[in-house]
Amino acid sequence: MRKKIIAGNWKMNMDLSEGLDFAESINNYFREKPSDRAEVILCTPFIHLAGLSGLLKDGKIVFGAQNCAAESSGAYTGEVSASMIKSTGAQYVITGHSERRTYYHENDKILNKKAALAVKCGLKVIFCCGEVLQEREEGTHFSVVRRQLEAGLFSLSEEEFKQIIIAYEPVWAIGTGLTATPDQAQEMHKYIRDLISEKYGKNFADQVSILYGGSCKPSNAAEIFSRADVDGGLIGGASLKKEDFCAIVEAV
Ligand code: 13P
Repeated sequence: MRKKIIAGNWKMNMDLSEGLDFAESINNYFREKPSDRAEVILCTPFIHLAGLSGLLKDGKIVFGAQNCAAESSGAYTGEVSASMIKSTGAQYVITGHSERRTYYHENDKILNKKAALAVKCGLKVIFCCGEVLQEREEGTHFSVVRRQLEAGLFSLSEEEFKQIIIAYEPVWAIGTGLTATPDQAQEMHKYIRDLISEKYGKNFADQVSILYGGSCKPSNAAEIFSRADVDGGLIGGASLKKEDFCAIVEAV
C-alpha cells in the first residue's frame, strides 16, 4: 500500500508567530484526532522551520520547506541549502513548483540538481509538475509532464527515487478556483505512474505517491482522492485555513 499524503504549501504567508501558532493548532487537532490514513505535512517558509521541530516533536504531523538551493554550500547569497533544511528537523522539500518555474526561471536542469542534492541530504522531495492552460488546450499536456519528469527526475537511481513524491499541479488550476476534474486528474496520474513504471518497473511505480494540487478544497477533495492513482493532495490556499485543511485531510 502506498502512502497517502496531504501536504500544505503555505507559500509566502504568515510571519513567525502566526506560523508557529497555526502549526501548533493543527498539531493539536491531529493529536486529538489522529490521521491514521494520511501523513500530514506542513511546507512552510524557511523562517518557521527551526521553530517547528520543537513544536511538532510528538510526530503527529511533519514539516518541510518549499524550495532549496541548487548548490550544496558556498557563496550563494540569500540561498538556503538542502542540508541546512535537513538540519532543522524538516523531512521534506517541495521542488519544481510552477511559481518557482515561472517567477524564478527554474528550469529542468536546475530542478534536477535540486532534487538530486535534496535526496542526497536525506530529504524527501515533493516534485511538482504540470502544464499551463495553453498546453492543455493544445493537447501537449502529456508531453510537457513527460519532459518535466524525464529531465527533472529520471537521472535518479531507484534508491534515490524512493525519496520522491510527485505532485501533479495543472498550472491553470492553481489559485484560480478551477480544479481538474477527477477524470482529468486520474488520467494524468495514471500517465505519470506509467512513465515511472517504464523507467523503474511496475512494482516500484506502484509504491510512488502521486498527489494532486490545484484549488483543492473540502468540497472537491474526497472525489478527487477517490481515484485509483491519486494518493492525496498538495494544498495551497486551503492549507491556510485550519478547518479546511483538516477537512481535506479527513477526505482521504
Ligand atoms: P491552491 O490550492 O491555492 O490552488 O494552490 C495549489 C498549490 O500551488 C499547491 O502547491
